[in-house]
Amino acid sequence: MKNNKDPILSLHNITKSFGSVVANDSIYFDLYPQEIQVLLGENGAGKSTLMKILYGMYQADQGEILINQQKVVIQDPNDALRLGIGMVHQHFMLVPVMTVTENLMLGDEKTKGNAFGKLSKLDRETVRQEIIALGNKYGLQVNPDAVVEDLSVGEAQRVEILKVLYKGADILILDEPTAVLTPQETSELFEIMRSLIKQGKSIIFITHKLKEVLAVADRIAVLRNGKVVGHTTPAESSIEELALLMVGREVLLTATKGQSHPGKVVLNIKDLSIKSKSEVMVVKNFSLQLRAGEIYGIAGVQGNGQSELIEAITGLMQPHSGHIIILNKDVTHSSPRQITLVGTAHVPEDRQKHGLVLGFSVATNLVLQTYYLPPFSNGWVIYPEKVEENADEKIDEFDIRTPSRDALVSNLSGGNQQKVIIARELSRPINLLIINQPTRGLDVGSIEYIHKRIIEARDKGVAVLLVSAELDEILSLSDRIGVMYAGELVAEMDAKGANREQLGLYMTGSKKEKMLKENINQ
Ligand SMILES: Nc1ncnc2c1ncn2[C@@H]1O[C@H](COP(=O)(O)OP(=O)(O)OP(=O)(O)O)[C@@H](O)[C@H]1O
Ligand SMILES: [Mg+2]
Repeated sequence: MKNNKDPILSLHNITKSFGSVVANDSIYFDLYPQEIQVLLGENGAGKSTLMKILYGMYQADQGEILINQQKVVIQDPNDALRLGIGMVHQHFMLVPVMTVTENLMLGDEKTKGNAFGKLSKLDRETVRQEIIALGNKYGLQVNPDAVVEDLSVGEAQRVEILKVLYKGADILILDEPTAVLTPQETSELFEIMRSLIKQGKSIIFITHKLKEVLAVADRIAVLRNGKVVGHTTPAESSIEELALLMVGREVLLTATKGQSHPGKVVLNIKDLSIKSKSEVMVVKNFSLQLRAGEIYGIAGVQGNGQSELIEAITGLMQPHSGHIIILNKDVTHSSPRQITLVGTAHVPEDRQKHGLVLGFSVATNLVLQTYYLPPFSNGWVIYPEKVEENADEKIDEFDIRTPSRDALVSNLSGGNQQKVIIARELSRPINLLIINQPTRGLDVGSIEYIHKRIIEARDKGVAVLLVSAELDEILSLSDRIGVMYAGELVAEMDAKGANREQLGLYMTGSKKEKMLKENINQ
C-alpha cells in the first residue's frame, strides 16, 4: 500500500557484531503504516539478527530505533510488545501440550496470575472469547480449545500470529513463516496478512521464496553481508533480478542435469505399512525400487505419510509390516547407526531435532557420523587436528557462513545450519541418500549449489530418494516421480513427461493411477 505518511518504525545506523562477524553493518530501515515490507537476503545476511534487535532479544552495539519518530529503548521482548512490536519466529515457540487458549495466557498481564494453575475460569473464558473475536476480525480462525500438538503446521502458525495480536502488536515481524507451509496454507497466510494490513497493521516479512516476495510485498529491502544493498518493489523487479540483487551474481534457478544411468537396485521397499503413535495407518502397502544413479522424487502435500516413510527407512521409526532392503540387506528393524553403516546418508526434515547437536561446534557436527573412523580416529583416540582440517575444508567448499569452526552450531543462521548437515552427509562414501526438504530455508544461491551436489552424487552412482514440498524442486531434480496421497503411492511416472497440473491432481487425491502395482512389479 503506497502512502506518504511518516514511518511507523525507523532503524538508524544499527550495527551488531558477534566476535569477528559483523551481522548488521550500519543498517537504515523504514517501515510505513499499512505496508508489507519484505526483508530479503542470503543465508547469514543478518535478517534474523536485525529483527531480534527490534524485538529486544539482542542489543545493538550502535544505532537507534524510532517508533513514530520517537527514539525508544528496547531491552527485552516485553518492551517490544509494550511498543506494539510482535515477532513470529523462524522456529515455533508454542508449548505443545497446552491448548491454544493456555498458550495465549502464558505470561500474560491481562490475567491475574502468571502461575498457570491459579488462573480462574473467568480469565480463561475471557481469553477464549477474545481469541474468537480476533479470529473473526482478521480471518484467523483457530479452535481455542485445541491442544497445540494436534494442530497442523499451518494452524500452529496462526496461533503464533494470534498470540502477537492478542498482545496488542501493530508491527508484526514474520521470520520465514512460509518455510514449513503447504502452498494452500501459504495462500491462506497471505490472505490473513492482507486483512491485517487493511485493519491498520504493518508487517515485516522474511522469506527465501522469490515468487512469494513478488506476490505479497509492497516494498522490498535487500541485505547482503549485514548491509542494506538495495530497495525495490515487485513492479520494478523480477525473480531473476531479486536473485541477482541478493546474491550479487546470476543464479541458475532450475537445475540442469544429463541423462540418468540407473544401475542395480539399492533400496527395495516391499509392501511397507506404518502406524503412527496414535495407531493410525499412515503408510499403506508402499512399494518402491530405487536404483543406483537415479533420483526418485516423492511429491505430496505434507502430512500424507512422507515423513513417516523416511523415518522408517532411516531407522527412526519401526514399521508395522513389510520390508526395507538396502543392497540386499534387510534393515526393516535396524537401528539408525546400522543403517548409516550400510552406506546411507540422511538429511532430515527437522534439522534441529534429528540433524544436529545444537550444543556442539560446527567442526564436531561435521563428523557426527564418522568421528570414530579413520582419519578422525584410530579406534582409540580422536585426532582433533583432523577434525579441524575437515571442518575448514567443508566450510570453504559448502560456503558455510560461520565465525569459526569452533562456533556452536546453534549460533549459525537457519540456512547455514542446513548447509552443515548437507556438507556432512554428502562428504562420505555413500550408496543411498535420503533427503527430506533439502533446501528448506536456503537462499537461491545455496539451493543452486546443493542441487548441483545432489546431481553429482547421482552421477557417481548414488541412489537418491528425495522428498520435497516444493514441486519445482521435485520436477527439476527427479528422474522418476512418485506421488503420495493418504499414505499410498498413488502414481509413479517418468519425470520427463511430468507437469505441475498433473501432479497436483494426484496430490489432492482427485486422480489415482490404476496400473501402479503392475508398473512397480515389472
Ligand atoms: N547468537 C549468535 N552468536 C554468534 N553469531 C551469531 C549469533 N546469531 C547470529 N550470528 C551470526 O550472525 C550472522 C547473521 O545471522 P542471521 O541469523 O541474522 O542470518 P539470516 O539472514 O537470518 O540467515 P537465514 O536466512 O539463514 O536465516 C551469521 O553469520 C550468524 O552466524
Ligand atoms: Mg534467519
